[in-house]
Formats: sequence, C-alpha cells, structure tokens
Amino acid sequence: MIKIICVAGARPNFVKIAPIVSAMLKRPDAIKMILVHTGQHYDADMSDAFFRDLDIPPPDIALNVGSASHAQQTAEIMKRFEPVVLELKPDYVLVVGDVNSTIACALTAAKLQVGVIHVEAGLRSFDREMPEEINRVLTDHISDLLFVTEESGRQNLLKEGIAAERIHFVGNVMIDSLKRQLAAAGRSAIMEQIGFRPGTFGLVTLHRPSNVDDPFVFGEILSALHDISKKLPLLFPVHPRTAGKIVEWNLQESFANDGTAIGPEEKRSGLYWTAPLGYLDFLQLMSHARLVLTDSGGIQEETTALGVPCITLRHNTERPSTIEMGTNRLVGTDPGRIMQAADEVLAKPPAGTLPPFWDGHAAERIVAVLLNYERKAKS
Ligand code: UD1
Repeated sequence: MIKIICVAGARPNFVKIAPIVSAMLKRPDAIKMILVHTGQHYDADMSDAFFRDLDIPPPDIALNVGSASHAQQTAEIMKRFEPVVLELKPDYVLVVGDVNSTIACALTAAKLQVGVIHVEAGLRSFDREMPEEINRVLTDHISDLLFVTEESGRQNLLKEGIAAERIHFVGNVMIDSLKRQLAAAGRSAIMEQIGFRPGTFGLVTLHRPSNVDDPFVFGEILSALHDISKKLPLLFPVHPRTAGKIVEWNLQESFANDGTAIGPEEKRSGLYWTAPLGYLDFLQLMSHARLVLTDSGGIQEETTALGVPCITLRHNTERPSTIEMGTNRLVGTDPGRIMQAADEVLAKPPAGTLPPFWDGHAAERIVAVLLNYERKAKS
C-alpha cells in the first residue's frame, strides 16, 4: 500500500487535483490517499465552488493559511505542513502546478526525505519575474517523479539535467477535468442568466501581477478591451486581486456595469464585470465564446482543448504547444496589437489540433506509472 498526500491550494490546483484524486480513490487496494488543502485560496467562489463543481471530496486536512506576501505565505504553508508529514509519514507528497502551495509542500517533503511527485512539471516561460516560474524550476529540481503535459516540458527538464527515467509524458490533467465536466457544464444556466447566445460574446480573465499591479499596463489593456467590446460584448469575471486594483485605481469607467448586476437582457456591446465564476459556469461560457482574452496559464490550454480562439495578453508562455498546435496566440499588452489580433481572429478564427495525450486519461496514466514505479522499487 502506498501512502500519498495530495496537495491543493489555489483555484487552478483544484482543477488539476480532481481527476488525480478520483483515479487514486479507484485503487483503495493499492493507494491510501490523503487530501490536504493549504487554504491559499479560501473565498467561497475561489475554493468551495470548485470542490463542488469538480466533485472533489472534502479535504482530509485544511491548513487555512490565507493570503500574505510570497515569503510569508510560503513559510506559513511549510510550517503548517511539516507536522502533517511528520505525523502521517507518507511515501510521497504529490503537488500540482506552480503556485506557492506547490513549492512550499514540495520543499517541506523533500527536506523530510519524503518522495515528491510533481504533476505539470517542466513548463518554462523563461521569465524569472513570474513568481510561478521560480516555483516551477525549484519544484522540478526537488521532485523524484515528474509528469509532463507536453513535449516542451520533457525537453526543458532534460536540458536542466533531470534524469530521463524520472520524466513521464502523460498528458494534461486539466483536460481530464474539462472532458469529464463538459456535459455538466452544458446544463449550466449562466448564458441565459447573463443574456448571451452562443458565439456572440467574448470572455476575459486577468490576474497576473505584471498586468494588473501596474496602473499604466492595466489601464492600456482595459482600453483595448473597451474598444473590442464595442464590436463583441465581453464578460470579465474578476479575480479578487484584480478587483482590488480596479477599485484602487478608479478604473471602473471602462466597464458597462458596476460589477454587481448583470441582467438577462440581450447584450450587444460593452465590457461587463462580474464576480469570479464557478468551474461549470466558466466552462459553459468558455465553450460558447467567440474569443477568449486572458493572461491565465490553464485557460490557454482549455481553449486549445475546446478549439476556441484565445488571445494571450502576455509576452511569453510556458505552454508553447497551445500556440504551435492549438488556437492560442501570444500578443503581449500593447493595445494596438491586442485590437489588431482580435480583429484578425474575429475575421478568421484559427484552426487547431489537440496536443498528444490531452485525451482525458492523464490521471489514470499517472496512477499506472506510480504503481509500476513502486513495484520496481520494491523488487
Ligand atoms: C495564485 C497563483 C497563480 C495562479 C492564481 C490563480 C502564486 C504565486 N500565484 O495567484 O499562479 O494563477 O493563484 O488564481 O501562487 N484573494 C482573495 N480570496 C482568495 C484568494 C486570494 O481575496 O480566496 C486575494 C487576496 O487579496 C490575495 C490576492 O487575492 O492577497 C492574491 O492571492 P494569492 O493566492 O496570493 O495569488 P493569486 O494572485 O491568486
């Protein structure tokens, strides 16, 4: 029996951990899984809604760390996670993605000589100004088993000197969740509630510090969105960090509403602000959007899986397969370039293909590799 602690802390983690937890719970004969929620994200719409929508069982252990500076948050997670590992003595700690909870729990486990498994290893933006890039590089270099979502991940890890036998190209657990929940998302009433018909609106998300923490950059992006929204109504579910900045810098005038009431009347133009949405509502909207504009990592992948055009408002991406094979386009933050890209995409939507193994079975492959690895280690 292998004892594994699975860690999730922030919104994108929940989407990635759901299929892994489910695949592990199907093997009670071989795996004892313990789910830890660090509490990095804690609002009902950033956390509870995702557990509900993704059928994730309640966490066995909640660390309730909350928000703080990077060092304080990372340190607090480590302080609270260490006694859990000491008490439970797991064989492995499994972490996903690139958030502060990922590096904090991986580092805690590695220092206690507990095996570390990193799911979504090897992605690189080569931009050390991104906190996530630091988390990715460090987590990979203290991991024993590294599961990658795309070929670039394998190549990056090999170039960094990680042994080939530790790297496994299994596909994308985020796409496992998408495929599993697409039918349930189709039953969401969000489109009628807002007043959108399929293919007649765009969707926006922004939360990267490099985009929303600088009033000039954020203002320029909003001016481009405002312009695009005259041709295509845009819905912007606003992350709490972004909402704070909109209020702080008085950027509300870019919006057609004040962020609260979005009625069912048909939307023809305007940029509409709403609270963060749950997974199923967001998936329903994303799958019917004519265009998505984002600085998220996961949404670049989800739009590729759905074949929906995506314009990424960043200067780099750690997910190159979404551009080389999928429907994603990297345009940066210059308003002229954003508007031009939107015009081009609306005139001629890009065609894309699905990267290998983005087939809904990545989590099953992870469990199979893990069981095989354990068998070999014991023989
Ligand atoms: C984190 C991740 C980022 C990921 C994003 C997804 C890191 C370094 N960053 O960024 O990679 O793409 O999650 O959302 O781990 N807040 C709330 N309620 C919550 C959570 C946060 O109001 O439930 C607010 C707090 O003011 C907090 C701020 O949002 O200070 C930022 O939260 P934090 O977890 O530090 O980083 P994110 O920007 O969410």
